Amino acid sequence: MKEQILNLLPGDHPWQNQIYWYDSTDSTNNLAKVAAQTGAPHGTVIFADHQTGGRGRMGRRFHSPAGCGIYMSLLLRPNCPATELMHLTCAAAVTACDAVEVATGMRPGIKWTNDLVHNRRKLGGILTELSVDASTGNVEYAIIGIGINCCQTSVDFPEEIRSFAGSLTMVTGKMTNRAKLAAALICAFSSLRLSEKSRILETYRRDCVTIGKEISLVQGDDLRHGHAFGVDNSGALLVRFPDGHTEAVHSGEVSVRGMYGYL
Ligand code: BTN
Repeated sequence: MKEQILNLLPGDHPWQNQIYWYDSTDSTNNLAKVAAQTGAPHGTVIFADHQTGGRGRMGRRFHSPAGCGIYMSLLLRPNCPATELMHLTCAAAVTACDAVEVATGMRPGIKWTNDLVHNRRKLGGILTELSVDASTGNVEYAIIGIGINCCQTSVDFPEEIRSFAGSLTMVTGKMTNRAKLAAALICAFSSLRLSEKSRILETYRRDCVTIGKEISLVQGDDLRHGHAFGVDNSGALLVRFPDGHTEAVHSGEVSVRGMYGYL
């Protein structure tokens, strides 16, 4: 697979000597973290065909069977204060959508914060992990972990997620070329300019299916309902609650009414 990916990249791609493909691992984000701590360079890309402990947001598991998906972690060393990277998760979602569109012709929507979705089904997710130097506030490294369901049919998903999980093949009706998607992801992320904040956020707001919807928000034991009316420049979801007050929501689990069978 690695050879196929390399053959699909331009010959002089700056990351071509730092792309790794593993048959199986617990989590590519864990491998990327070890690589980061042992000095691996910006733009190190780690793929696995199979993850035994694929991790999602909110401590969830990301089902990662062999031969079916793209499980990739990208190590970035942005060399700036963490406060300048508030839009990183938005940037990762937009960039992953760009790559899916290049590889398949179909552009997913984004469910806040960064689930890739289409027609009420989750096609993939992104788990971003940052290491920040506590004394300076600078980012030591960022790991962007991307999981995309490529070739599954509905029965390939565990029963508990079957009603709301989908794959690129289920959406397009065609076989998904995983090497092509992997190469598209590498090209899209290597061209990402985090300094282009307003362009990134404009595209994010356009693609975000949560904006304009009635949502439920779970934060710890607290469940509230509201109307999502925007995303601010830090990537927070702007929510209006029934009593009229508004909040910028930075974390929590948001369900969109009518999506994924929630609500
Ligand atoms: C989510 O759905 O909440 C995020 C899922 C992120 C999964 C990817 S797969 C590659 C990388 N390794 C992991 O353990 N997680 C991410």
